Amino acid sequence: MGVPVQIVIFGASGDLTAQKLVPALASLAMKQEPAEGFVLVGVARRAKTDEQFRQDLRERQPAEGQAAFAALAQRIHYFSGDVQKLEDIRALGAYLDGLPGGANAGRLFYCSLMPDLFGPAVNHLAQAGLLHEDGAGGAWRRVVVEKPFGHDLASARVLNQTLQDCLREDQIYRIDHYLGKETVQNLFAFRFNNTIFEPVWNRRHVELVQITVAETGGVEPGRVGYYDTSGAMRDMMANHMLQILAMIAMEPPSSLDPEEVRGNKVSALKSLRFCGNPRHCVRARYRAGSVGGQPLAGYLDEGAAAANGTETFVAVRAELENWRWSGVPFLLRHGKRMPKKFTEVKVQFRVPPIQLADYALRQEGDRVERLPTGSRDGEVCVLRPNVLTLSIQPREAMSLSFSVKAPGNGMVMVPSDLAFDYRDRFGESTTPAYERLLLDAILGDPTLFLRSDEVEASWRFTDTVRASWSGSEAPPLREYEAGSWGPPEVDNLFHGCEGGWSRG
Ligand code: BG6
Repeated sequence: MGVPVQIVIFGASGDLTAQKLVPALASLAMKQEPAEGFVLVGVARRAKTDEQFRQDLRERQPAEGQAAFAALAQRIHYFSGDVQKLEDIRALGAYLDGLPGGANAGRLFYCSLMPDLFGPAVNHLAQAGLLHEDGAGGAWRRVVVEKPFGHDLASARVLNQTLQDCLREDQIYRIDHYLGKETVQNLFAFRFNNTIFEPVWNRRHVELVQITVAETGGVEPGRVGYYDTSGAMRDMMANHMLQILAMIAMEPPSSLDPEEVRGNKVSALKSLRFCGNPRHCVRARYRAGSVGGQPLAGYLDEGAAAANGTETFVAVRAELENWRWSGVPFLLRHGKRMPKKFTEVKVQFRVPPIQLADYALRQEGDRVERLPTGSRDGEVCVLRPNVLTLSIQPREAMSLSFSVKAPGNGMVMVPSDLAFDYRDRFGESTTPAYERLLLDAILGDPTLFLRSDEVEASWRFTDTVRASWSGSEAPPLREYEAGSWGPPEVDNLFHGCEGGWSRG
């Protein structure tokens, strides 16, 4: 067993530390991972003893997390310091040298900070000599950076440059917690470990791809300041949703080499285009409404400024300009205060060119409707397309829909499906995202972290969409009732394609 790893969290008094990082580290401590063990050092400005910090964290853990926290508690330390002061970071270095592992420990510096502090923190770490690896093995130095990685392409480039002035790219771990989700990793695993889908995973067979991240929650009170200058497009679509899209659209790598996997994702993101047509983007913000009879305030009543014109809902019709996907719409939709929380991908295949059925049955609840088939007199064909649904959360599942002949006279088609559910197959819950990602960062596996060019490709697309929001042709900022599915105009994004938006 080697020397314990030292995990240093800047911004240790924040919610991310208490709600995500500490439970993840507690779970690793319980599982005795990594094998060499670790100590955790929380860094924040306020003066506190180790015991006070432990007590603060303990109180913020739910009842079911207390046993795991107990396994972590004795490894937790606290250092009072300000990342904006070089002398504090130098003192932190001396402090770390005195902890188990000392200067020989691998060190993971986790920046859970306001974005404008990423640069000063990393600069001061570099100036204090804390990012230097002597090359003698063992004593690695890595920095984890939380989103947002800038707010557009230009600021992301500045941030990337600042990081790269102090660190090699392979020391930088830009975290997107969606990549830590088991079901997101499964998008990759499922595609490239089964042969049946690969031959049909392209423009000849896929009619459209639909990606939804619907949240019932609004903007949390403590986050309005951040969110109101960010909005749905930059907060969710620019990162989490484009990562899902990249997993769906990327070319198969020939190995699990992190650079090959990430390189193929970058290629997919680089080919992503927004056509600029104002009808291909809908943005909106919620007004007061209700969910399940509970009244909900509007976004502007929650402390947001109308003048910022911030969207809490966005839907975009995008395309990938490459041989595999050219012409296939990728419909992306995200909103807060939706009626249901779910994240899902639907890959919709083309309907057969000729419909050999008398009619199809569509069932919605108890209502069974008899629908004619074919496209007579301009009538849309109603034979349902095959759809592969990849449910990412909260349900962790996959299903493939198809039509089967209903028993009896005549050729009557009814929908059915093949289904797989993680819970049925593997039991309770999957590993939380931050646990997987923290362990990967400690073990030095960057596959599930974003590379600088990946971040920049994502912003390039996002900036193009946002650029279409100004000028005379700009889509207006619409309103939707809290607890509804967003403005009706969002249905127009299907223009020319079968189907409608998923309701989860
Ligand atoms: C964060 C966003 O990155 O992801 C939040 O800033 C959002 O606005 C959250 O609510 C969603 O994460 P999850 O894992 O709950 O889907």
